[in-house]
Parts: sequence; C-alpha cells; structure tokens
Amino acid sequence: MTTFIAVLYIISFALFIYGLMGLTGPRTAVRGNWIAAVGMGIAVIATLLTPGMGNGLLIALGVGIGVAVGVPSARKVKMTAMPQMVALFNGVGGGAVALIAWVEFRTTEGYAHEPAYVAIASLFAAIVGSVSFWGSNIAFGKLQELISGRPITLGKLQQPVNALVLIAAIVFAVVIATGGDAELLMIGLLVAAGVLGVVVVLPIGGADMPVVISLLNALTGLSAAAMGLALDNTALIVAGMIVGASGSILTNLMAKAMNRSIPAIVAGGFGGGTAVASSGSGEVRPVRSTSASDTAIQMAYANKVVVVPGYGMAVAQAQHVVREMAKLLEAKGITVAYAIHPVAGRMPGHMNVLLAEADVPYEQLKEMDEINSEFAQTDVALVIGANDVTNPAAETDPGSPIYGMPILKVNHSRSVIVLKRSMSSGFAGIDNELFYDAKTSMLFGDAKSSVGEIVEELKAL
Ligand code: TAP
Repeated sequence: MTTFIAVLYIISFALFIYGLMGLTGPRTAVRGNWIAAVGMGIAVIATLLTPGMGNGLLIALGVGIGVAVGVPSARKVKMTAMPQMVALFNGVGGGAVALIAWVEFRTTEGYAHEPAYVAIASLFAAIVGSVSFWGSNIAFGKLQELISGRPITLGKLQQPVNALVLIAAIVFAVVIATGGDAELLMIGLLVAAGVLGVVVVLPIGGADMPVVISLLNALTGLSAAAMGLALDNTALIVAGMIVGASGSILTNLMAKAMNRSIPAIVAGGFGGGTAVASSGSGEVRPVRSTSASDTAIQMAYANKVVVVPGYGMAVAQAQHVVREMAKLLEAKGITVAYAIHPVAGRMPGHMNVLLAEADVPYEQLKEMDEINSEFAQTDVALVIGANDVTNPAAETDPGSPIYGMPILKVNHSRSVIVLKRSMSSGFAGIDNELFYDAKTSMLFGDAKSSVGEIVEELKAL
C-alpha cells in the first residue's frame, strides 16, 4: 500500500508540474488548469488511502461543504472580482495549515514525543498560516470595499505594534518547542500571528493589494510545505513548495512591472485612491473631446490601429464589442493589434483573459516590449479604460509615484483616442499627462457604449 500511495503521489507531482507549464500561455492555460486539478484529485485520493486517516464521514462532509461553497462561487465570480476571490481561497489554505498545526499540537500533547524538527516545522506553519489567513481576509475586505482601500495605519505605533505581536508569536513558539504543552500557548500563538497578519496588511493601499495577495500566497505555500515536513507528507511538501516558489516569482514580477520594491509595498501607503485628477495647483486644464463618429472616421482612414485595453475595459465588459469593432476595421484592410501591459487591469493576465474570452486571435496580442517599438508607425492608439499604464509621467516626472514603471508608449502614435467616463484618475490616484497631449482626444462615456457607437458608425461608413 505504501508503495502504491508513493506512486500516486509521484503521478500527482508530475501532473502539477505539467499543468503549471500549461499556465504559461493563454492557449494552453485551461488545459493546464485541468491537468493540475486532476493531479490534486489523485493526491487527495492517495492521502485518503493512507492508513489511520480518521473519520471518513467527517472527511466526506468537509469535501462536500468545500465543493458546495467553492464551485458555485468560482463559477459566479466576475473577472473584475477575481483578485479578492484568490485572496479568499488563499486565506483558506493558510487557515487550514494553521488548524492542522493546532490539531497536531493536540494529538501529540504539545509535540511532547516528536523530534524537534516536527515541533519547529509545525510552529512555523502555524504562525505563517495564521498570518496568511488573517492578512488575506483583510486583503479581501479592502478589494471588496468592505473596508477602506486607503492605508489604515497606527501612525507612530505601527512599527512597535508590528514588532510586539511578532515577538509575542515567536515567544509562544519557543515556549511550546521547549516543552510547554498548555493549549492556551497554542491559542496565544495563533492569535498573535493573526493580529500580525491584520496589522501588516491594513496599512497597505488598495493599489498594492494584488501584489500583497501574491506574497501571502507564497507564504501559504511555505507554511503548507513546512506542515508537510512535520507530517511526513510529500504531497504537501511538493505542492507547498510549488505554490511558494511560483508565488514568490509572481510577486517579484508584479512589483517589477509596477516599479515598486517588495519592502516598499509592505511598508504601505501607496494607492487605494479614488482621487480625482488635478494638475496639482487646482486649476482645471483643457482637454480635447471627440465623438464616436469622428473616432470611427479617423480609424477608417488609418493603416494601423492599436487597441490599448485597461481596467476600464474590464469594468465595462467591453471586450466583445471591441472584437466586433476590430473585425470591421480588419474588413477595411486596417491592421489591428492589442497592446498588453503586464499590470493592466487588476490581476496578472487580466487583459489576456478578457480578450481570449472574446476570441481575439492570440497573435494580435502584443506584449509591451514588442508593441512599444510599433507605436511610431501607428495611426491611431485607441486607449480603452487604461490610464496608469499609459502615463508618460512614469518616464518624465521623477516626483511621480509611478516614476520608473515601464509604460505603453501610446504618445508615440500619430494620434491617441482615450475612452473613459471622466477625468478621474486610475488606481495610482494621479493625473495623466497623456490626456492633455496635443495628439490626444477624449471620448467620454462607458467603454462598452462608446465602442458600441463606434461599431454602428463603422457599419454606416
Ligand atoms: P487604471 O489606471 O486603474 O485606470 C482605469 C481607468 O478606467 C480609470 O481611469 C477609469 O476612468 C476607467 N474606467 C473605469 N470604468 C470604466 C468604464 N465603465 N468605461 C470606461 N472607462 C472606465 O487602469 P490600468 O491603466 O489598467 O492600470 C492598472 C493599475 O492597477 C496600475 O496602476 C497598476 O499598477 C495597478 N495594479 C495592477 C495589478 C495587476 S497585476 N494588473 C496589480 C496591482 C495594481 P473613469 O472613472 O474616468 O472612467
């Protein structure tokens, strides 16, 4: 039986890794997801086959509740709410690890007869799992706007409080590892770590939340791997390390694409705003506005149009009508491409997923580095609900919070048309010089309605 279980685990690891490879491209992502899910299914079966697994009925009940809650909520969730969904799922993982560490503490009478590494790994898993659970819940609350997306800090007390709860959690762990077996010690450890998760995430602004979620995801992976070590469960070790490593890589990539350092993000204070754009001096600057019919005419006489989608396209759910517009332009012999910024929207790959949903051919999706050299030969850059990712201040204004962030250089095109509802800022809460550029026209309105009107105009031309 042991060999059979080991073989099942090896098959499941191979499927995890093969599935993960599928996630590297939109064409293979869905299949990759299925392959990894099958791998997880096999790992669960292998674990259930392990002798002494306990009460089968309770396990079935747990699986039943998980399926009943997880499947409908994952099916129903809107693409724009995906980051908070990921935060919740990730939090549940961290919470489960912390609870397993607690169960292990109870069944082994405070790890009394266990080797030191079991106690150390379990206590590490309990702390990190609890931080991840509570931190992820705060991240969920911020993104869901249940609590303010603005940084909530304790002012000067912030750092001392952070340090105090961290030290408290470590002290509880040391007391347990050196023989303390009172259950209150474990509860104290979980509470201190939970408070740490809350006080660390509260001061971080909404704009940085996806990066924080990815960081917490990496922590959940690490805690699961540590728990696997304590329980001698290879599936947990491998799956935990895969999550830990991929979460760390993703965190790093996102931070780089936003030109933010991870310590600066955790130190908090950036974004979360619904701030309205202004020039800084309070003066209102003029912009040129245009109409759907002028936009349609301008594009109809172009050779090349580049669509630059952003968060607003996701909010408006304009991807299908954008695709329809592109088809009409292509029928007129116009080249259409889509410029994809790595952090456009609110989660990695957000624009790719939306455009794939609308059956946009993958070859038309151009990554930032590739498309940036093409803007100089572009007649019209049609910016649909994108803001920060096109803001030239990232290149020209050393005082800007996004200075250094790589941007889509839409201002190099012959003309720029920006579709958005107002002059409001994007997630970074700052004004965008692009809107005041002599080459730029603003088409105000909901992106779906505006593109719908452009489609009608194009049909009539
Ligand atoms: P944003 O800079 O957030 O701008 C989105 C714009 O869409 C807003 O200015 C808004 O203006 C407009 N909009 C909203 N609803 C709309 C609608 N129904 N129709 C038309 N326009 C609408 O978006 P972006 O350019 O995609 O940049 C993403 C930002 O999120 C960056 O700052 C990035 O650093 C941050 N971020 C991204 C990620 C990932 S991984 N993608 C992670 C963390 C943070 P109006 O209100 O005037 O319409």
